[in-house]
Amino acid sequence: MKVSIIGAGGLVGSSAAFALQCGGVVREIALLDVNLEAAQGQALDILHGGPSTADQIIVAGGYEHVADSDVICITAGLRRKPDESRLDLINRNTDLFVSILDEIKRVGVKQDAIVFVVSNPVDILTYVAADRMGLPNHQVIGLGTQLDTIRFRSLIAQQLQVPPTQMSALILGEHGESMVPIWSSATIGGLPLDKHPAWQPNLVNELFTRTRGSGAEVIRKKGGAGFAVGIAIRDVIESIALDSQRILPISSIQQGAYGIRDVALSVPTIVGRQGVVDRLEIELWPKEVQGLRNSGNVLRQTVNTVLERIGRG
Ligand code: 2OP
Repeated sequence: MKVSIIGAGGLVGSSAAFALQCGGVVREIALLDVNLEAAQGQALDILHGGPSTADQIIVAGGYEHVADSDVICITAGLRRKPDESRLDLINRNTDLFVSILDEIKRVGVKQDAIVFVVSNPVDILTYVAADRMGLPNHQVIGLGTQLDTIRFRSLIAQQLQVPPTQMSALILGEHGESMVPIWSSATIGGLPLDKHPAWQPNLVNELFTRTRGSGAEVIRKKGGAGFAVGIAIRDVIESIALDSQRILPISSIQQGAYGIRDVALSVPTIVGRQGVVDRLEIELWPKEVQGLRNSGNVLRQTVNTVLERIGRG
């Protein structure tokens, strides 16, 4: 399977390319960036590691690579400042994002290509991509809260000193301030979280607050996310490549789960080669459902504002 990463000259895109190399699942990784030399540099650095990782084709270039790609991953965009919300980015990034979509449409994509949005605000831009690309909605997805989910799991595991790979907990809704922690289904090694001897109820707020602020914390400390967002991107792309049907919290235009429609946000989603295979409306606590619906309302207001400015596709 071939993956094109647009914005691969930057930290997020190059980290995604490196994660895909380490995963060894995809056959070809094309790194694209407006700064071609940066994309070429990242590609060369990744190529050098090939003999010890996987037999893949690693290239840098232009939009010609999009035409035969199975997944087109868009990571390009300005990064927010620590005190800026992802939604604050919207005007600056929307115009750039629309120009990228126009280039993708100009060269054309495979009929079964998946457009995978990472650029922020990811839920808004996922909606814009679905509105403009002329592909079936199930083929346009966003990273959504997969990154937030693995951050959430990592921080709970660190706090309780349990293996992070045995920590299961979800973040759903907006990849942003209104994201929703799903404590109702949190488990460690299959056991309810609140039955673990190290669990204390006061950890609920502390751990979620740190999770929600992790993006800004990483920006403050090192300028922006790279490693974990690359891993989260790999989780999604490899589920597409292998048609794994993994259940992942990714963003897509909702069609009624939890009473939410016509806005892109993250609910438990079965991810396969076709993109969205199905959505699972798992049972949640009433306050969790309310939080999801609040996410939907927050995002819809911004989507409407953006569409008033750029028009519909
Ligand atoms: C983050 O939360 C890049 O939005 C991403 O770090």
